[in-house]
Amino acid sequence: MKEFRSDISGFYKLSMDERRKLLSELVNLNQDEIEILNTLGYFKPSQIDTLIENVVGSFQLPMGLAFNFKINNKDYIIPMVIEEPSVVAAASNAARMARKHGGFHSENVPSVMISQIQITQIHDIESAKKLISDNKDQILKIANEQDPLLNKLGGGALDLELRDLKTGKGKMLIIHLLVNVLDAMGANVVNTMAEAISPFIEELTKGKIYLRILSNLATHRIAKSKATFDKELLGGSEVVEGILNAYEFAAADPYRATTHNKGIMNGIVALTMATGNDTRAIESGAHAYASLSGQYSPLTKFALDSKGNLVGEIEVPLALGIIGGMTKIHPMARIALKILNVESANELSQVCAALGLAQNVAALRALASEGIQKGHMALHSRNIAKIAGVPENLVEKVAKKMIEENKIRVDIAKEILKKLSEGENL
Ligand code: MEV
Repeated sequence: MKEFRSDISGFYKLSMDERRKLLSELVNLNQDEIEILNTLGYFKPSQIDTLIENVVGSFQLPMGLAFNFKINNKDYIIPMVIEEPSVVAAASNAARMARKHGGFHSENVPSVMISQIQITQIHDIESAKKLISDNKDQILKIANEQDPLLNKLGGGALDLELRDLKTGKGKMLIIHLLVNVLDAMGANVVNTMAEAISPFIEELTKGKIYLRILSNLATHRIAKSKATFDKELLGGSEVVEGILNAYEFAAADPYRATTHNKGIMNGIVALTMATGNDTRAIESGAHAYASLSGQYSPLTKFALDSKGNLVGEIEVPLALGIIGGMTKIHPMARIALKILNVESANELSQVCAALGLAQNVAALRALASEGIQKGHMALHSRNIAKIAGVPENLVEKVAKKMIEENKIRVDIAKEILKKLSEGENL
């Protein structure tokens, strides 16, 4: 075994095989582990090696399908990539409850991204603002020259917003360049545009520009979806009352709102991941949006209709693309997009918002009735049995026994297995 040190230089210059060999010497991988590293699945080595740096393998996650979604009168099967049991089933279940009342109604999501330009060292902010406004056409022209194709297709730089900001280093002038990125997530194009217009803006304002980067708080790209969930299918008026109480709890308490929104993100992130979109961008945007009022709040709202059914609404920024980035490179993301059958980033975001709402309703329904653990337990218990080394033909039996005993642990699974192999009738 090699001396373990982390200051390894030039790792990226090695071939993938050489990297794995070096790694296995460093951390003493056994043959099975090396084989797992070697399994790239559907990725070609040349493909995966260029996605990020220092690649040694590929990390797989399950992709499941959520059913029953009807959104704006169109049926969807939604691919979800997530490691957590019960999430996919829960989404399908809530979608079934909404389907009875026509499904989800999602609004159009404009694909408008914000790129921020930070101007410092300006003595007279008001005159700088005027200069920028007077030269807006020229600034947008320079921005649009960076992507003539986007322009031809009907997208491109649209407008500027000017914000003055008090900071610990004095006043700054922040420009928001608004860009219609059409079917892309848009990070590349808006960053390129922001960099391209900055020299002209520096010349105009005589200020010093530092950052030129998109904002992940995509407030011009808000997805909204609404649905009515059937009272009886939810479990009756007592459960509905519990959901309304859960919502008010989240609206009043950031500790609860965080978990409430986590449930929403179970759906949103699983679809973001399945379609090869940037999950971190979506997460940071959603949580920032949830805090815009000054208090971290739930991303959904609930009320009753005249018949006592639950009406749910979601509002969340969603910067999702169906072209660019990983969406077209990742073989499974391409299949996910085919399953979804969406024609635009707008449509994908409409589906994603509906999924987030369904996921939230499913979680609140479980919490307001039998509790969340019941649904989790069957799968969890099977997983624990497998971890304990229970052979495939006995997994179900051991899992069931652990649920009966209300003790789902590896040591208990081993104990049950031992009793079974000693011929005990359980
Ligand atoms: C678990 O992944 C998500 C929940 O905690 C969401 C919630 O509490 O609303 C069940």
